[in-house]
Amino acid sequence: MSNNEEEALVDNRDIGRQKDAAIAIKIASELTDDLEIVSDELIRTHELKMETIDLSHWYGDKRVLSGISLPMFKNRVTAIIGASGCGKSTFLRDLNRMNDLISSARIAGQVLLDGQDIYAKDIDLNQLRKRIGMVFQKPNPFGMSIQNNIAYGPYVHGIKEDEFPKIIESCLRKAVLWTEVKDRLGDTALSLSGGQQQRLCIARALSVEPEIILFDEPCSSLDPHATAKIEDLITKLKEEYTVVIVTHNMQQAARVSDYTAFFNLGELIEFNRTKKIFSSPERKMTEEYISGRFG
Ligand SMILES: Nc1ncnc2c1ncn2[C@@H]1O[C@H](COP(=O)(O)OP(=O)(O)OP(=O)(O)O)[C@@H](O)[C@H]1O
Ligand SMILES: [Mg+2]
Repeated sequence: MSNNEEEALVDNRDIGRQKDAAIAIKIASELTDDLEIVSDELIRTHELKMETIDLSHWYGDKRVLSGISLPMFKNRVTAIIGASGCGKSTFLRDLNRMNDLISSARIAGQVLLDGQDIYAKDIDLNQLRKRIGMVFQKPNPFGMSIQNNIAYGPYVHGIKEDEFPKIIESCLRKAVLWTEVKDRLGDTALSLSGGQQQRLCIARALSVEPEIILFDEPCSSLDPHATAKIEDLITKLKEEYTVVIVTHNMQQAARVSDYTAFFNLGELIEFNRTKKIFSSPERKMTEEYISGRFG
């Protein structure tokens, strides 16, 4: 590829980002939002579900998160935005101790769930992951039937088998997948479309009755139609659950979230109501990012 072609590609990508940013700002400006600024007062009146306090994260001796203190409110959607590599997925995985599986990973600071430190010595990891479900970028259903994908979690947690049909139906209904699959529950999950597979993964996450659901770019492999379904679903889920979503797509953050945290190079640059972040951010760097000037 010639230099000119490369430059043209980069220019096109920037134009795409700037369009995305302009639409995101418009969406946010139309949000009805009576709570403008996250003040200490607001934090006291909202119910905190989860919170990180001065959370830092290292892989080996490379520090990738620095002193992140972020509240996540009950029955609200918190979006995490920021350029690639800024630590969004690492942060999300610290929230349910998924990074424990990486031997070079180390953290300092605290992650509190209902006020309790999830890194405390006596924490039961199975119980923790039951309380905090996760949905990944690429749909990853198990290679088994649709119904068994959902029954698997309850089975592992010792729920009686005669409860399974009720759980399967209720989770599939909540994930807005029931009518599409109710006549083929025994088919392999791998026969579903990408968007259906992602909704199945959400249904699977719901099957163990979590309190929090973490989404790491759940729509990035989906087409706009499937994306719209997942976004509607996330908006509905917050009635029952607390949601944290990492997204590259600023329009998505503006559409689905109540609060937005902007990360850059492992630091939390700004956190506020989504409307405020997209309409009048306090920091210049946030303004530059949300207007598509970098990232
Ligand atoms: N297992 C790992 N070992 C070492 N370094 C890692 C590991 N996982 C991530 N990193 C590094 O940590 C930093 C943050 O990565 P992370 O995946 O959290 O970023 P991100 O914001 O989610 O990026 P993206 O938007 O591209 O998904 C990056 O520099 C990345 O290379
Ligand atoms: Mg990531």
